[in-house]
Amino acid sequence: MKGIILAGGLGTRLQPITFGVSKQLLPVYDKPMIYYPLSVLMLTGVTDIQIISSPDDLGGFRKLLGDGSELGLNLTYAEQDKPRGIADAFLVGADHIGDDSVALVLGDNLFHGYGFGEVLQTNARDVEGCVLFGYPVRDPERYGVGVLDADGRLTSLEEKPTRPRSNLAVTGLYFYDNSVIDIARGLEPSERGELEITDVNRTYLERGTARLVELGRGFVWLDTGTHDALTEAGQYVQLLEHRQGVRIACIEEIAWRMGYIDRAACHRLGRNLASSPYGQYVMEITAA
Ligand code: TTP
Repeated sequence: MKGIILAGGLGTRLQPITFGVSKQLLPVYDKPMIYYPLSVLMLTGVTDIQIISSPDDLGGFRKLLGDGSELGLNLTYAEQDKPRGIADAFLVGADHIGDDSVALVLGDNLFHGYGFGEVLQTNARDVEGCVLFGYPVRDPERYGVGVLDADGRLTSLEEKPTRPRSNLAVTGLYFYDNSVIDIARGLEPSERGELEITDVNRTYLERGTARLVELGRGFVWLDTGTHDALTEAGQYVQLLEHRQGVRIACIEEIAWRMGYIDRAACHRLGRNLASSPYGQYVMEITAA
């Protein structure tokens, strides 16, 4: 399975901050936002990952993450010249996906929960059709919304419905088989001129091959797109890290625990950041 992180967009809701810097490079407490979606793909077991962003911002991501080899990853970069919609990721990333399946994660989505790696790995196995992840929210009208029948089967998908028929928002993490490229190629832009991910998902639904996995109360899904959401996400991470003494989305730790790099290599990565508590944490967990 290949991975894509979609990290472009204009970040208009975070202006004026986003005039000078990409939203996905902003800090969520102790690390850049993109570490969170990157760690989701790493926990899934995906190591061949393309980061898609605007021409102005790609340099910042390259500087931050390089070719990924230090983490045992293969990171590549591709341009989306303007925000043409989430489903545009499959056109920009078609060569990267090749004839494989793909996991797409939005660069501003933060997931956290016990056993999440297991959930990801189980659902990424032999994807046929698409796998969506649903999360109960108070304000479903802001999102794509999924409706399940009594047996838990997905029966409908609606984009920002004025009268939502469920409270299950479709999160920014999606697994697809290879036909997603052809589906995206056949899409017409919506009224707002974008290739909509909900249209892709609806095609799978019509074919009877769309599944929605419910992330229950024990999980946290945060979006970081507004000033308040960004601050609250940072506070959540700070609180949890202080209380538990472990770090969320520490990509060096995940690379080590997933077996992408060994303990000594991880320790060296920590040493490079030894002035910060983040680096000290990496050193502590890998101390011989
Ligand atoms: P949005 O939050 O919908 O858009 P945005 O990031 O531009 O923010 P705003 O609404 O404040 O203007 O995008 C969700 C994620 O997907 C975010 O990480 C940006 C990314 N994205 C792209 O990279 N390209 C696109 O064409 C779109 C629509 C989104």
